[in-house]
Amino acid sequence: MPVLKSTLDKSSEAFAENYTAFKERQKELQELRTRQKMGGPEKVRDRHLKRGKLPPRDRVEGLLDPGSPFLELGELAGYGKYENVPPGASLITGIGLISGRLCMIIANDSTVKGGTYFGMTCKKHVRAQHIAWNNRLPCITLVDSGGAFLPDMENIFPDEGQFGSIFHNQVGMSGDDIPQIAVVMGPCTAGGAYIPSLCDEVVIVRGQGFMYLGGPELTFAATGEEVDAETLGGAKMHSSISGVTDHIAENDEHALSITREIVSHLGEAPLPRKTQEKPVPPLYPIEEIYGLLSHNPKIPTDNREILARLIDGSEFHEFKPLYGDTLMTGFARLYGHEIGILANDGVLFTESANKAAHFINLCCQRDIPLLFLVDVTGFMVGREAEQAGIAKAGAKMITAMSSARVPKFTVITGGSYGAGYLSMLGRPFQPDAMFMWPNARSAIMGPEQAASVMAQIRARINTEESKSWTAQEEEAFKAPVRKIYEDFQNAYNYASNLWVDGVIDPCETREVLALLLDVASRRPKSETNFGVFRI
Ligand code: COA
Repeated sequence: MPVLKSTLDKSSEAFAENYTAFKERQKELQELRTRQKMGGPEKVRDRHLKRGKLPPRDRVEGLLDPGSPFLELGELAGYGKYENVPPGASLITGIGLISGRLCMIIANDSTVKGGTYFGMTCKKHVRAQHIAWNNRLPCITLVDSGGAFLPDMENIFPDEGQFGSIFHNQVGMSGDDIPQIAVVMGPCTAGGAYIPSLCDEVVIVRGQGFMYLGGPELTFAATGEEVDAETLGGAKMHSSISGVTDHIAENDEHALSITREIVSHLGEAPLPRKTQEKPVPPLYPIEEIYGLLSHNPKIPTDNREILARLIDGSEFHEFKPLYGDTLMTGFARLYGHEIGILANDGVLFTESANKAAHFINLCCQRDIPLLFLVDVTGFMVGREAEQAGIAKAGAKMITAMSSARVPKFTVITGGSYGAGYLSMLGRPFQPDAMFMWPNARSAIMGPEQAASVMAQIRARINTEESKSWTAQEEEAFKAPVRKIYEDFQNAYNYASNLWVDGVIDPCETREVLALLLDVASRRPKSETNFGVFRI
């Protein structure tokens, strides 16, 4: 297969500058991840251990097959949104191997506000369910939660996508034969009690796990009945009287080992439908991407050099290399998995959009997963572009991308703006998974453009009202707009709001996608029905 040849000059000033700028971003990612992994305050973590409980991450570790990877999703959810709450929104979600079977794990971190659900916790739980559902992954939920975080009611209670959707999804998943197992490892109140109640099998830890719709205090306040937690919702009561739970464990370790056994009896695990070839590393070191990613938005990144550092053997069977060349399309392997790649190399023109539609059509017919590598300022504007029918071509690209039912993934490697963001498999088009690199950014338009557009509108109104403004006044008007866009477009803002499934280092990209491609290769083939293509 043809190989992408690199012409990178590692001794250049640009390489050094880009490298330094990237390292700053990378440091921020490491710091945020460290804060997330730590969980709640030290005092609360100590109390958690004194209660004989395993730390939430050790629980996840104890479920997984030793030495197997865990792909964490939504790890920075809620970052900066809630006072004294670390990134992660009190929940750990991710894909891992349990008793040889790929599963979705959802675990409350009760060291963070009693494992209660904020708005972003609900969103993260729902997202994990959707990924499990799409890929037919069994869902294992380690429950240790006081239910709703009461002050955040508007983001938890009334709407679709909030707490109630967790139950709705549980029912739908169950109807679609997705196994769901719960392990009650702490006091589970209200919503926290319904999650296990809607599972297929429930394990509960003696003297530590409790389930009730209302705890002892609420029961007393509501009915005047005085009852202790054990009698109201303990392991013995639920396993011998109410029948809400099915297995009693003596401690966390025992509960995890029972759960691993349950997973080993979920029936035959699905096999991959695709042949994975032997993984081959790219010809060039992946770390060189750090020095390739342009830190200056005015200087474009050479995305061909980036691609050469992501795919197996840097081998790229390019489709239509001479036509619409601001979008690279072609076939490659990633960790041995065959994929169809669409990677930006400039602004989208009519030809590049048409090429995208054609290429996506091919991949759907051949049942090849799609990977969108995004670094785009948008579609070409102007008379020439309009006359060439760019609106029609863009619609065709969007129709193809949106209709495609093959597994599809998005990685934003640079800028991703406006209709470019959307047409390159943006979040509204439901990618199977979507990530940003730490340097990546996305908004309706760039900060400078947004400030200029707003200033032009203001200038026109000024003229209509026979007013004028000085250069200083114009700058004072533009500065806050620029700042809003700068803050918005940051990758960590996207991760905090769960508009992406995570921020990943370029060097992690191959492993992350390999696991997801493996997961997707085990689900049944879906037929694509394309919408109308305007020719
Ligand atoms: N909403 C908001 N905050 C809550 C909360 C809730 N439902 N439940 C607990 N918290 C907060 C506490 O105020 C405390 O905050 P702080 O760290 O700022 O002091 C923190 O979470 C830890 O709570 P604490 O009671 O000290 O921890 P615990 O491990 O001993 O007990 C619970 C945890 C969840 C079992 C217990 O707090 C509880 O029963 N909460 C009420 C649950 C409930 O009734 N939920 C109904 C939802 S509809």
